[in-house]
Amino acid sequence: MRALLFLASLGFVAAENGLDGWLRYAPLPCSGHCHSSLPSSIAVLNATETSPVYVAGTELQNGLKGVYGKHVKVSHTKCKSSSLVVGTLDQYREHCGPVHGVPELEEDGFWLNTKGKNVQIIGQNEKGALYGTFEYLSMLAQGNFTKVSYASNPAANIRWVNQWDNMDGSIERGFGGPSIFFEKNRTVEDLTRVREYARLLASVRINAVVINNVNANPIILTPENLDGVAQIADVFRPYGIQVGLSLNFASPQTFGGLSTFDPLDASVIEWWSKITAQIYERVPDMAGYLVKADSEGQPGPQTYNRTLADAANLFAKEVKPYGGIVMYRAFVYNQLDENVWTDDRAKAAVDFFKKLDGEFDDNVVIQIKYGPIDFQVREPASPLFANLPKTSMAIELQVTQEYLGQQSHLVYVAPLWKEIFDTDLRVDHKPSLVRDIMTGKRFNRKLGGSAAVVNVGTNTTWLGSHLSMSNLYAYGRLAWNPADDAEEVLKDWIRLTFGLDRKVVDTITRMSMESWPAYEQYSGNLGIQTLTDILYTHYGPNPASQDNNGWGQWTRADHTSIGMDRTVSNGTGYSGQYPEEVAAMYENIETTPDNLLLWFHHVNYTHRLKSGKTVIQHFYDAHYTGAETAQTFLTQWESLHGKIDTERFNHVRRFLDYQGGHSIVWRDAINDFYYNLSGIPDEAKRVGHHPWRIEAEDMKLQGYKAYDVTPFEMASGTVAVVTTSNTTAGIASTRIGFASGKYDLAVNYYDVYGGKAEWKVYLNDREVGQWVGNGEDTLSHTPSTLLDGHSASRVTFRNVKIHKGDTLKIVGKPDGNEPAPLDYVSLLPAGIVD
Ligand SMILES: *[C@@H]1O[C@H](CO)[C@@H](O)[C@H](O)[C@H]1NC(C)=O
Ligand SMILES: *[C@@H]1O[C@H](CO)[C@@H](O)[C@H](O)[C@H]1NC(C)=O
Ligand SMILES: *[C@@H]1O[C@H](CO)[C@@H](O)[C@H](O)[C@H]1NC(C)=O
Ligand SMILES: *[C@@H]1O[C@H](CO)[C@@H](O)[C@H](O)[C@H]1NC(C)=O
Ligand SMILES: *[C@@H]1O[C@H](CO)[C@@H](O)[C@H](O)[C@H]1NC(C)=O
Ligand SMILES: *[C@@H]1O[C@H](CO)[C@@H](O)[C@H](O)[C@H]1NC(C)=O
Ligand SMILES: *[C@@H]1O[C@H](CO)[C@@H](O)[C@H](O)[C@H]1NC(C)=O
Ligand SMILES: *[C@@H]1O[C@H](CO)[C@@H](O)[C@H](O)[C@H]1NC(C)=O
Ligand SMILES: *[C@@H]1O[C@H](CO)[C@@H](O)[C@H](O)[C@H]1NC(C)=O
Repeated sequence: MRALLFLASLGFVAAENGLDGWLRYAPLPCSGHCHSSLPSSIAVLNATETSPVYVAGTELQNGLKGVYGKHVKVSHTKCKSSSLVVGTLDQYREHCGPVHGVPELEEDGFWLNTKGKNVQIIGQNEKGALYGTFEYLSMLAQGNFTKVSYASNPAANIRWVNQWDNMDGSIERGFGGPSIFFEKNRTVEDLTRVREYARLLASVRINAVVINNVNANPIILTPENLDGVAQIADVFRPYGIQVGLSLNFASPQTFGGLSTFDPLDASVIEWWSKITAQIYERVPDMAGYLVKADSEGQPGPQTYNRTLADAANLFAKEVKPYGGIVMYRAFVYNQLDENVWTDDRAKAAVDFFKKLDGEFDDNVVIQIKYGPIDFQVREPASPLFANLPKTSMAIELQVTQEYLGQQSHLVYVAPLWKEIFDTDLRVDHKPSLVRDIMTGKRFNRKLGGSAAVVNVGTNTTWLGSHLSMSNLYAYGRLAWNPADDAEEVLKDWIRLTFGLDRKVVDTITRMSMESWPAYEQYSGNLGIQTLTDILYTHYGPNPASQDNNGWGQWTRADHTSIGMDRTVSNGTGYSGQYPEEVAAMYENIETTPDNLLLWFHHVNYTHRLKSGKTVIQHFYDAHYTGAETAQTFLTQWESLHGKIDTERFNHVRRFLDYQGGHSIVWRDAINDFYYNLSGIPDEAKRVGHHPWRIEAEDMKLQGYKAYDVTPFEMASGTVAVVTTSNTTAGIASTRIGFASGKYDLAVNYYDVYGGKAEWKVYLNDREVGQWVGNGEDTLSHTPSTLLDGHSASRVTFRNVKIHKGDTLKIVGKPDGNEPAPLDYVSLLPAGIVD
């Protein structure tokens, strides 16, 4: 006991693995009127253990005990004598009498009142009561004892998450380990993690989860698997969360053995009726179906010349009697030809869907990605939002950072979402914020809201890295109220996740708010898209991969010019898909904001931006600025040493250190690529000039040989070195010509999947440091088997004392198919980033 107290007084913080997310209920000191302000007994107005109200009671008990060490008794009827009451309006009236002062509550809404004698948490329904409970606990866990009484209602009834989990347990674009739902083509037996996920989702008011990948495997529909789905639904239900399923459109044929999957064929309709009945028999409150069809190789109604509405309505009619809905993805497009100047994938959604407006059943919701391409670092809001006034819509977002650093880069995405939500599309010259369209308010639709692809896995961090959980938290908060402020939401998350220390809150806020702008700066600027490798992992840089293929994520970059001409006057006509005022703004290069210039216009590299810089100089400068900002994330984080438990501190530290290095990989790859293409030098003479570098290929090599990296811009000086043998170590050495002094010694190498090579660095035979190529186990992003922008990594040894003439030696021991590759060494005096 004494030892514990002693540690506590030193600010000891217990190791944490992230499993509880923002629901840690970590202890806070109870000072002032704290104890007397806390309830001492709780009336929970439903005694059924599987009811959300019952769950709310358990959370309250755990929360009060965890945060303030206060044990409270729970009763199920004694309303009057308890100091906190939680239940629905109806339950309250029944057990406690008339309610006073509660404004009209909408579905899922709640009333929270801490001003009176008793704390009242009253939901319009049981879900609402649970949401109100989490709200109250969030206040207490942030040390907030403000007396409040207010109602909170959702802006939208669709607040879903999508998991792209495959039946074999892998997750498409998942970076936090394998599925918590499936393994070996079956649902899992141990549903502990499912319950923990349900708790996190309910706390941010998510009301449904689609558990299987949109690229759906029909074996989800076997009787055994549907039994498993029912068990999963049973776990989610007490948390107010419904389960939904993704369907494979061809299932009647590929799985059901019919000769067709034509949506208008009677046998196909009958087949889906039977399947739907089998599902609802097991899961009576199934939320509905999610459908991706006629997209990226997925089968769809076009096979039979049927419309997308024919397909959506087929399912809509099946789920209607059970109260289900159909989320039909707008992500439909065909392969295109870049030689055709007017071909444009961004136009596809409006081309396919606009003509069908009014033909969808009223329980169909079109699920529309925020931008018209694919979760890029910057896109304009999808014009489809402005083109379906007679159809229900939901926005699709990504919590999983498919194109945004795959959780190995800190990118707080909520500010990006907010820019989309707050875009005014001026439909019929009236205010038409995307957030009011998606929630159904603008066009008076009953259904509307959002779905986010989340893709948590079995990793205890859920998403693969601790800091990326801010995106899941913010998603839920903004799904409930898209008018909320991204920074305020973030601060709540930080206090709940890392505690109330002012410096911790300020530092993580600053880093997070700087992270999306920095990522945009060192990946793709001016609306050119993320410039990641779109043909392979979607992770590291590869600008050339955007063009010369049918996927339509083109940049149309050549020796003199770059950008997609999407104007009506001379381009693809995409800008004309927006309502008049917005179309006019984007049509005109003078009124197009710089940050979307290359999205809408094809210009010379020498074109001058509103800032006065040329396009190419902006690229160069932004990449340097972004990478510089990314270096500060590590130092900012390290300033929190001692204020965060060691386990999470070290995990995050490792990720930010890696990100700093990889941001330089991004910077140089993109800058070298466009310098090479345009031939226009950087005015500041940085691009292609690296005075503090020693190229590995210029060192004395024994057991190492030069290796031409493709694409060329993925290696400094286009060349790396690899060991000549798969078993014997290679040695690269050189005499250092720099002045004596203290340097940061950075080594750029490639961490290839399929081996764990080991490197050691020596100065005059004294070991300075060593590392292992094991990023595939310790980081979250998709690994690469090649020497490229995904595997390129940097390790830094700080403050190394160096004397002019010292011999620098690196010994690389190959392993598997990782030939201990080296790109270059940087010796960086204080303040230099290169
Ligand atoms: C209590 O919860 C159960 C399970 O959710 C529900 O069926 C029942 O209607 C609830 N009871 C009351 C009185 O609301
Ligand atoms: C306390 O919580 C209430 C309700 O959420 C909020 O309005 C208020 O701003 C919070 N106060 C502080 C100091 O965070
Ligand atoms: C899972 O199903 C796929 C076909 O969908 C099959 O190829 C694979 O072998 C199966 N895996 C197991 C472990 O049964
Ligand atoms: C679909 O329509 C096209 C053109 O009208 C026709 O060539 C094709 O045969 C039709 N396909 C089917 C499966 O009916
Ligand atoms: C107009 O489009 C053509 C391609 O059809 C393109 O080559 C040309 O650069 C464009 N002109 C302007 C002024 O953007
Ligand atoms: C763009 O560059 C090309 C080739 O240098 C030149 O012919 C053209 O006039 C330039 N266009 C503009 C709008 O400056
Ligand atoms: C661009 O790269 C190619 C191939 O590496 C090279 O031949 C060419 O000289 C480079 N051009 C410039 C301007 O650097
Ligand atoms: C979780 O992922 C991290 C990398 O982010 C890895 O180091 C760790 O081993 C993983 N843990 C589990 C339990 O999967
Ligand atoms: C090293 O291993 C790779 C595959 O891992 C193989 O392709 C290559 O031939 C091997 N090289 C030598 C020199 O054994």
